[in-house]
Amino acid sequence: MTPLPHILFDAEAEADLAAAEGTVIVFAAADGTLTPAATALDAAMGGALTRALAEPGVGGKPGVAESFGWPAGLAARRVLLACLGADPDAAAARKTGGAIAKALAKGPATLATAGLGDEAPLADLVMALALRLYDFRAYKKSKPAEGDEPEQGPRTIRVLSDRPEALAGGSRAMMALAEGVFFTRDLVNEPANVLTTDEFAARLAAMQEIGLDVEILGEPELQTLGMRALLGVGQGSASETKVVVMRWMGGGQEAPFALVGKGVVFDTGGISLKPASGMEDMTMDMGGAGTVAGVMRTLALRKARANVVGVVGLVENMPDGTAQRPGDIVRSMKGDTIEIINTDAEGRLLLADVLWYVQQTFKPTGIVDLATLTGAVIIALGHHRAGYYATDDALAADLEAACAATGDETWRLPLGKPYAEQLKSAKADLKNTGGRSAGSVTAAEFLHAFVEDGVPWIHIDIAGTATTSAGTDMAPKGATGWGVAALDRLVRTRLEPEG
Ligand code: BES
Ligand code: MN
Ligand code: ZN
Repeated sequence: MTPLPHILFDAEAEADLAAAEGTVIVFAAADGTLTPAATALDAAMGGALTRALAEPGVGGKPGVAESFGWPAGLAARRVLLACLGADPDAAAARKTGGAIAKALAKGPATLATAGLGDEAPLADLVMALALRLYDFRAYKKSKPAEGDEPEQGPRTIRVLSDRPEALAGGSRAMMALAEGVFFTRDLVNEPANVLTTDEFAARLAAMQEIGLDVEILGEPELQTLGMRALLGVGQGSASETKVVVMRWMGGGQEAPFALVGKGVVFDTGGISLKPASGMEDMTMDMGGAGTVAGVMRTLALRKARANVVGVVGLVENMPDGTAQRPGDIVRSMKGDTIEIINTDAEGRLLLADVLWYVQQTFKPTGIVDLATLTGAVIIALGHHRAGYYATDDALAADLEAACAATGDETWRLPLGKPYAEQLKSAKADLKNTGGRSAGSVTAAEFLHAFVEDGVPWIHIDIAGTATTSAGTDMAPKGATGWGVAALDRLVRTRLEPEG
């Protein structure tokens, strides 16, 4: 797995900043007031920080105001002058943390935060810093050996503050979350020749070592269960279609909450073949399953006091002499028949059976499914927010609060009968596409047909947010791990007893 940075918390009063190697980060308030550590470095550096801040446009807003190379009088190779802006909230802290990560030079980093005030959202800043340092190098010549200093980015970050115990207290849960996010990103970044359905299942099975109960269903079991909507998708692939069930039972006797993920390890479109341009991006079409896996990892690592079951359908959508055709009619596990109009609308076929299986097997208290389901959601919301659909306003409110708290941004889109009607088939109970208009909504309505009345259910379409081409505050280019933090938070607020 891509290694996490080491984060240590120390009392700032005892630290010798002049002797700190690598990068030293100090802060100025929005009005230009320097923290005690910044004041000391400013003196050692002959007033360089004060002079930089006197320049119009330098400082005042969240981010890195200025970077100083090989500063005189210090052992460090770089000093960063950062700023959280006025009345910083968690979003400002994430922006600043991400900006610091991007500006870091080689070697360790020391972050001097004393004097920022008790209200400063330092945990959010440190989390964003750690997440933004992720660097997927598995296939690079310069891949670091186990225990080596990575080529880019520091492996040790010392956070100095006047309340190190308070910060360190929350750091176990924070590192559990960071590891969940890194796990998800590694899965999403892996190419499809490596991350086959077998390899994916094996990486999930390995989480038994951290206390998850993991069960793998192969094609014979899926046949017996009648999951022909799912099996049809994988019919043209040499890789076996699988369903993996991950269970974390850290709560009491109550029924579990369920997380469901789309795990299409590669989506060629099948016989309804996608165009060549950009098809390589379809290695990320298992992003929903990757997110579910990352959340389950985090829950196990932080020993969450909640019962959660994570179920993912793993399949490859390939064209072949044995592949499913447009016009085929398949019977789902629920019993409803589906006319395949377009073999590229495969995610909903997989989810139909997995959602039904989860409800029959676990009678969950609620379900959230995640899927890179439609290009249409990218047309609607771009890459900034995931689109979600809900049958339950209380669950929706909990998700919104969790998303707002973690920076995984989302936006609610509507379900409704007129959209469901776009899915009427002349020959079968349902067809798998609803035409060009409202493509993300009709996909959600397709899934809705496989959710029993009264079950609180949310579908999140993460096609636009699972990866980033430019990088975000918290993620470099590539997989983002969108949703791992929000769902971990949702579990915490909705299922776990206080204290
Ligand atoms: N995996 C794709 C959706 C997707 C598109 C994810 C872009 C990430 C980035 C999905 O299986 C798909 O092909 N959807 C079709 C549905 C259509 C055929 C009704 C789409 O969105 O074009
Ligand atoms: Mn597709
Ligand atoms: Zn797909």
